[in-house]
Amino acid sequence: MSSIEKFLTSQINKLKDNHLFRTLSANSDLVDFSSNDYLGFSRSNLLKNAIEEELAKQASWMIGSTGSRLISGNTQYAIDLENDLAKFHNAEAGLLFNSGYDANLGIFSCLPQKGDTIILDEKIHACIIDGSRLSYANRYKFRHNDLGSLEQKLKIAKGNIFIGIESVYSMDGDSPDLVGMVELAEKYEANIVIDEAHGAGVFGPNGKGLVSELGLEKKIFARIHTFGKAIGAHGAIAMGSKALRDFLINHSRSFIYTTAAPFHSLAAIKLAYKELNKQPQLQTDLQNKILLFKSNLVKNNRLIESYSPIQSVVFSGNENVLKVYEALKNKGFNVGAVRSPTVAKGMERIRVCLHLFNSDDEIYRLVNEFNQYL
Ligand SMILES: Cc1ncc(COP(=O)(O)O)c(C=O)c1O
Repeated sequence: MSSIEKFLTSQINKLKDNHLFRTLSANSDLVDFSSNDYLGFSRSNLLKNAIEEELAKQASWMIGSTGSRLISGNTQYAIDLENDLAKFHNAEAGLLFNSGYDANLGIFSCLPQKGDTIILDEKIHACIIDGSRLSYANRYKFRHNDLGSLEQKLKIAKGNIFIGIESVYSMDGDSPDLVGMVELAEKYEANIVIDEAHGAGVFGPNGKGLVSELGLEKKIFARIHTFGKAIGAHGAIAMGSKALRDFLINHSRSFIYTTAAPFHSLAAIKLAYKELNKQPQLQTDLQNKILLFKSNLVKNNRLIESYSPIQSVVFSGNENVLKVYEALKNKGFNVGAVRSPTVAKGMERIRVCLHLFNSDDEIYRLVNEFNQYL
């Protein structure tokens, strides 16, 4: 065996020994309690038909965008979509990215300069960590959702300060005290960059996000909304001032050096937002599903407090989590098994995502299974 093959095999064996080995499996016919399709948009026949009609209306639509937006990949359709989305979210301007990963990578790698400071919640998503690592700014972490810990870091921060947070944390499903953070940011003249990946479509009027729910649009420096979760499509938009948009177009490498999203992808985003506009009750309906799950657990002291569709129940230890995961799978439920080191040791959990399309009966049956392990 060559030395690189030996290295790969030994790394894989280590993962297997620690119950951390991942494999790809095709989607199953289990009941979906794990995807990010909170509103069911990605499987909506109504949306599928609307997208087909939109494509048919544009007789000359192209399969691919043919290049970066700065070269041949831009269209009036993309510009109109950005303007419409920025208006919907009460932002001055917006810039589309091909994914949430690209948006966060692009922003955090190019905005903070040498001598500036990035302060991140310790549970921030990997793409923000990766973006920050590409920047020459100083980096600090603060304890999860802890204003005191954030202030300690703000006191020692230099240059332009960027605070990176999420409106809903993807593993715990919880949210920050955004009002308190805005007050602190104002006190230290810091700029909040908030990733609304899991808040988009879920919180705020018509699913405009947590920032809009709290009326803080003018107090937040940048918002990232992704389209791969409740919006049911793919891609992301970064929103803020017009100057921010211009800066990103000129400096964000994950925007500049990649082929723009194709037309059919933009059409899917446009029509999903149209649906959000048309159906203001979706967010309340989703909250009712979440409540049904939470209120029927016999013991909820292992449930991490969350008002989002992400509900995590802690079963310490990778082996324990896998045992419950397999048992739920055998009963027909697809949930997430989140192990350490993705989460801290002792906080391994089953992660349940609730959706509008989960019937009340499916939720009752899932909770009944869960209750046997609590
Ligand atoms: C909080 C958060 N931010 C960003 C992303 C990345 O978004 P995308 O899947 O569109 O690349 C994810 C998805 O995993 C996420 O959970």
